[in-house]
Amino acid sequence: MIEKIEQTAEYIRTRVASLPDTAIILGTGLGALVDHIEDKQFIPYSEIPNFPVSTVEGHSGNLIFGRLGSKPVMAMQGRFHYYEGYDMKEVTFPVRVMKALGIKTLFVSNAAGGMNKEFQVGDIMIITDHINLFPENPLRGKNDPRLGTRFPAMTEAYSHKLIALADEIAAEKNIRVMHGVYVGVTGPTFETPAEYEAYRIMGGDAVGMSTVPEVIVANHAGITVFGVSVITDLGGKDVTEVPTHEEVQKAAQAAQPKMMEIMRELVARAE
Ligand code: HPA
Repeated sequence: MIEKIEQTAEYIRTRVASLPDTAIILGTGLGALVDHIEDKQFIPYSEIPNFPVSTVEGHSGNLIFGRLGSKPVMAMQGRFHYYEGYDMKEVTFPVRVMKALGIKTLFVSNAAGGMNKEFQVGDIMIITDHINLFPENPLRGKNDPRLGTRFPAMTEAYSHKLIALADEIAAEKNIRVMHGVYVGVTGPTFETPAEYEAYRIMGGDAVGMSTVPEVIVANHAGITVFGVSVITDLGGKDVTEVPTHEEVQKAAQAAQPKMMEIMRELVARAE
């Protein structure tokens, strides 16, 4: 795998003038954050050797290099989901490439369904921890010690320092932010009322179909992670609204400016 990672990283190095140490993965309905990246250069996934190609509506597949505020960043506009049929190694391949390119901090965002009774549609939830309910772990298989340790700790999968900094920024900007545990599932079905309820009782605050694989690999690779969910729908045994992909996209787009403000400032202040 390391040869493939190196080949892809080498290709990207030939395409961009300078490499950032910060990466951002943009979730469903949150791709417009790219509009705030300046002096940007797009590399379509289809042009990148060994990269899978994004298939879902609402996810255009581009790697973007530019500046967010004064900070050089790379962004993934569109990610690879397990439910699309990619295996875990494909889903997380871009994170391996990020590491090879020198990325030190990864900001991930996603759209998620809220189980926490305090949550409202449009809320921003800073991810404090996650529960992996995917049927496998991206690190399953032979471990290459050049990529990371066999048994990585996941005690601080989401940087406490960045969470504290994000809280500070949200308070300064008067943006309501919630904290919570993200439950990662395969989808593509949304949850049954009983599943939302089960995940809540289990300790989850929001549920979604991404993020967990990438965050596991980022931790394995020694990349510091900050994650944020936009709550696009609410689920539970008393909730009768039926979530749709269109609604999820719309709610994410509506909350995007808030998330953008926090992200931009966080990227600027994180060292
Ligand atoms: N469940 C799973 N994934 C999601 C949801 C949800 O309710 N909302 C957005 N992504």
